[in-house]
Amino acid sequence: MTRILIAGGATGIGAAVALAALETGGTALVADVNAEGLEQLASHAAHLPGQLDTLLVDLATPEAPARVAEAAAAAMGGVDCLFVNAGLMLAARLEDWTPEMWDRSDAINLRLPMFLTQAVLPLLRASDNASVVYTSSTGALRGHAGMPAYHATKSGILGLVRALADELGPEGIRVNALLPGWIDTPFNNGFWDHQDDAAATRAKIEAGIPMRRHGAANEVAGTVLYLASPAARYVTGTQLVVDGGYTAV
Ligand SMILES: NC(=O)c1ccc[n+]([C@@H]2O[C@H](COP(=O)([O-])OP(=O)(O)OC[C@H]3O[C@@H](n4cnc5c(N)ncnc54)[C@H](O)[C@@H]3O)[C@@H](O)[C@H]2O)c1
Repeated sequence: MTRILIAGGATGIGAAVALAALETGGTALVADVNAEGLEQLASHAAHLPGQLDTLLVDLATPEAPARVAEAAAAAMGGVDCLFVNAGLMLAARLEDWTPEMWDRSDAINLRLPMFLTQAVLPLLRASDNASVVYTSSTGALRGHAGMPAYHATKSGILGLVRALADELGPEGIRVNALLPGWIDTPFNNGFWDHQDDAAATRAKIEAGIPMRRHGAANEVAGTVLYLASPAARYVTGTQLVVDGGYTAV
């Protein structure tokens, strides 16, 4: 039975991973700032075999990692997989970017994975199948105008994965990145709002995806469960792209 700590999972990919883990009898703690989303997730989880706990917390704050680690120890008695999934995508013209916008992006997209891993490390060390999965993005491999901090931080996660895979590999703790492509969740609302013609942009993007559509959050969840499972026992320091072929062409 896997104990998974999900940082950012009230909706979208994180919620799909929580539900998929619970379906297999796993235990999940979902930490998120969206109280209504957490309540909805809990009601969806009520009939599943696994145990769900939730923690209402703003993960962008410097004190969040210690609080989340403490809650995970209390709720699950340990952590086998740390899934750091919360993200922030701000869009603005280059002239309008401020250092505050940049720091806000960094706090959730890059600082959180680093310091939450540090805080959870004692719990991971006690697991016999410990792994860390960070949600990066195909945005680490490609760029779009208006979102320099998003692309820079999601690329930064790939460097963090390599460094921590090297540091923690000798202890048997694996560290990997998930790179979703275009997935239908509330996350991209900021991107669509930034477009002059959102419908036309969406049609153009989907025409360039071999699967010719967006993915669903539950089509990403299995990849995270795979990375957390003993089947991936020799998989570390790498990136798994789940994008319907978007970056293949
Ligand atoms: N949807 C896509 O097309 C797509 C593509 C590539 C990467 N991603 C990445 O996937 C991850 C999950 O996004 P999603 O698509 O499931 O969107 P989502 O908005 O449904 O999920 C993000 C979750 O993180 C939570 N969160 C954000 N900031 C937080 C904070 N400060 N404190 C606590 N919780 C916070 C949100 O409340 C939400 O539950 C993000 O890191 C995003 O960059 C998404």
